[in-house]
Amino acid sequence: MSKNLINFTDLRKKDIFDLIELANNFKSEDSLDYRSENLFPDKKIVSIFCEPSTRTKLSFEIAAHNLGAKFIDFDLSNSSIKKGETLEDTINAVEMMGVDLCILRHTDSVIHDYVKDFSNMQFINAGEGSISHPSQTLIDLMTIHESKERFEDLKITIVGDLDHSRVVNSFMEAIQIVGFKSLTFCGHPDLCKNFIETPIGNFEPELDTALQDADVVMALRIQNERLSEKLTIGATDYIERYQINVDSLQVADPEMILLHPGPVNFGIELSKEVGELDNCKISNQIFNGVGMRMAVLTKLFSQA
Ligand code: CP
Repeated sequence: MSKNLINFTDLRKKDIFDLIELANNFKSEDSLDYRSENLFPDKKIVSIFCEPSTRTKLSFEIAAHNLGAKFIDFDLSNSSIKKGETLEDTINAVEMMGVDLCILRHTDSVIHDYVKDFSNMQFINAGEGSISHPSQTLIDLMTIHESKERFEDLKITIVGDLDHSRVVNSFMEAIQIVGFKSLTFCGHPDLCKNFIETPIGNFEPELDTALQDADVVMALRIQNERLSEKLTIGATDYIERYQINVDSLQVADPEMILLHPGPVNFGIELSKEVGELDNCKISNQIFNGVGMRMAVLTKLFSQA
């Protein structure tokens, strides 16, 4: 494993399974929480989020606390960025202050340059525009692994706004490493232009067909904040054609698991009722976020 987590080229298949095992090992005896282990009392972590976040930011913060590391949440809105300082100069200052690891979420792909320019500090990509979100995918793989024995046997269906989803890109990278049986993409053509002719898997415009016998279903929200044009489909039609609900899931495998990276717009991409099904693993994804991020921090600090 590389000293940074930027995308899945930093990870081999063994690294992914090691991270899943390590994350599970951090669970408390009753598996309802994570153990605190004072493994990194000398490490300083800064989180810089240039886009909003709840799950990613908080779970990294809790993970850092559980590992005994110092976590500094950079308050961008009250920083000298507001006085015109560049993010690059900000990161330079952060490195000069002796920070060991920077967790960065940004609209653009700036993290790749920062990894090269600030080599005394480690980096975690906490969301790169609509391009990648590797730690979310590690959580998704961990969650799938809890319910399913072999990735190679899985029929996976991903439904929603694929063009603007960083999660789907990282998932596509990762699933080619761990294996899969079939990968089906589904969604409105306005939101799936890059997936009609996909390099892996297949595109299926009809939800019923896409969900047929699926073992894993991942739903994605419409990323309104990234849309440059008004959709040609209204909300009612969208719900009618693409909402995953108890009825549409009837054709999936009875042991199917439902994932969503969050935040979920219940009533749009998912009905309220499916959130309460045993097959729905969204709460597990959120819980696993802490363990997987403890595992990622532990592995990266061991590479430093
Ligand atoms: N899944 C995810 O990245 O959620 P947040 O935007 O809340 O961090």
